[in-house]
Amino acid sequence: MLPDTSSKLGTPTIALHWIVAMMMLMMLATGIYMEQTAAYALYPWHKSFGVLIALFVVLRVLWRWQNGWPTPVRNYLPWERILSGIIHYLLIIGTVIMPVSGFMMSALGGHGVALFGLELVARNPDPVNPQEVLPLHAPLAGIAHTVHGLAGYGLVACVLLHIAGALKHHILDKDGTLRRMLGASV
Ligand code: HEM
Ligand code: HEM
Repeated sequence: MLPDTSSKLGTPTIALHWIVAMMMLMMLATGIYMEQTAAYALYPWHKSFGVLIALFVVLRVLWRWQNGWPTPVRNYLPWERILSGIIHYLLIIGTVIMPVSGFMMSALGGHGVALFGLELVARNPDPVNPQEVLPLHAPLAGIAHTVHGLAGYGLVACVLLHIAGALKHHILDKDGTLRRMLGASV
């Protein structure tokens, strides 16, 4: 039930994978949309879900640390093993970098961060023009902003490759990799 075996994945692996996966897909899509269209009404939602996702990410990283990675359902070819291993690492690192850089960019940029209305870091209004904000640390906020953008687009590429890999296993190789992540015994 809890630990992963080569024929069946444990509930924590499956639940954490799909909760984080669905939230990350939603966050990548809303992040790119709001950044390109200046949809400011979405910003508080994006920040709140971003902070929330970090809690699941911490649980997931701890679970992977404790349990190692799931063993493959069959003997993958060396290139499959290496490529999927690298992508899994990049995906999990990406899920850590995105909330951390987003939080730093907003907090240090003076914009503040709230979790569904609960203030975590206060906005820092400009005393001369309170509509605007003053950064708490402009250079670090700028670096965090760049990291958030670059890592975001890098993550989109990794996710696309990851989904293509899952479909390759299911459709071309006809092995149980995807069915196992959906809860089946293979
Ligand atoms: C948890 C996962 C997260 C993902 C996958 C994510 C993804 C993204 C992406 C892809 C963009 C567009 C980046 C660009 O084109 O420069 C973006 C923008 C943004 N994100 Fe996130 N984000 C996450 C968490 C957060 C958090 C926790 C915060 C703040 C507390 C945050 C604040 C923002 C803001 C303010 C923007 C707009 C930046 C701008 O207008 O230039 N994000 N996000
Ligand atoms: C529709 C989207 C997705 C599908 C169909 C999918 C499918 C899968 C499958 C079948 C595995 C098992 C691989 C194996 O047994 O070797 C897996 C593992 C994994 N996936 Fe996804 N995935 C999706 C989205 C995502 C997203 C968005 C992320 C992160 C941003 C992600 C991160 C991971 C990681 C880190 C693993 C390694 C095992 C684990 O930590 O649970 N996946 N995925």
